[in-house]
Amino acid sequence: MTKLIKVEENDFSENKTRYCEELENANILFFEKCPFKFPKKDLDFLLSQKQSGAANRKNIAYKPAANKITNAVEMSEEQSKRLLEVMQNYSKCVVKFLAELLPPYAAHWSLDYASFRPFQEKGRQLRTRARNDLLHVDSFPTRPMHGRRILRFFTNINPKESRLWTTSDPFEVLVERFGGKGVDFPRRNSLMGRLLKILGFPIVLRSPYDTFMLNLHNFLKENEEFQKNCHKDYWEFPPHSCWIVFTDQVSHAATAGQYALEQTILVPHTGLVNPQKAPVSILEKLAKRTMIDAAL
Ligand SMILES: [Fe+2]
Repeated sequence: MTKLIKVEENDFSENKTRYCEELENANILFFEKCPFKFPKKDLDFLLSQKQSGAANRKNIAYKPAANKITNAVEMSEEQSKRLLEVMQNYSKCVVKFLAELLPPYAAHWSLDYASFRPFQEKGRQLRTRARNDLLHVDSFPTRPMHGRRILRFFTNINPKESRLWTTSDPFEVLVERFGGKGVDFPRRNSLMGRLLKILGFPIVLRSPYDTFMLNLHNFLKENEEFQKNCHKDYWEFPPHSCWIVFTDQVSHAATAGQYALEQTILVPHTGLVNPQKAPVSILEKLAKRTMIDAAL
């Protein structure tokens, strides 16, 4: 069962592996207040953004490698520049803070996208597989992880409203229940596919691990019995609080709340404190086969 681990301000540098262990045990690290300084003018700018009421739009993404924003509505050049600046600043602050809090990961991780989530999650009209308010584990359909972990840092920037989450059983329990019994254990990609990839053809090849994770994500969201009857824990993240979680391990749903920021970090298997607890390791043990292809 997922627990909420409250991190106090003076606790940050106490034990270098403690918080990594908590995360790898499927717990949520929680900060009552944002643990770094985020300028009020940046918050005010984000809260003033009107996303033209189209709640079915995707969240605004910031791609640090390209220093680029995607999915924002049309805005003036000056506003676009400002949005980029604010998201870049948030991303940098999170990375700097996480490097202090989770030093074992910092030498290994790679920086993924950040996002600004300006929509009210309660009642948001999305197709089933895109819904955030249904319990799921994260999997990126177009960006295979090949065993890397999805670590996410969230900030509720809403000044008045809490962000509400529900969590259910962690990956270890879900895979015991549904692995091979609802969600098949996939086989390796075809030899041709792997050969083309190795030769440098621009194709996106999912590892069997990625296929399983995506199928599990879809299966959980589409499984009404699971959504209704599974074990549930309810969490409230008040204004300006932050939380960190491995979202590929902790099944979660965002059921209410508007205006949040998030930064994703990808942690390779080799960077984990307890790699045997990683979803890919658990899956390989249960399926009795390799789930990632080292050559890809
Ligand atoms: Fe998610």
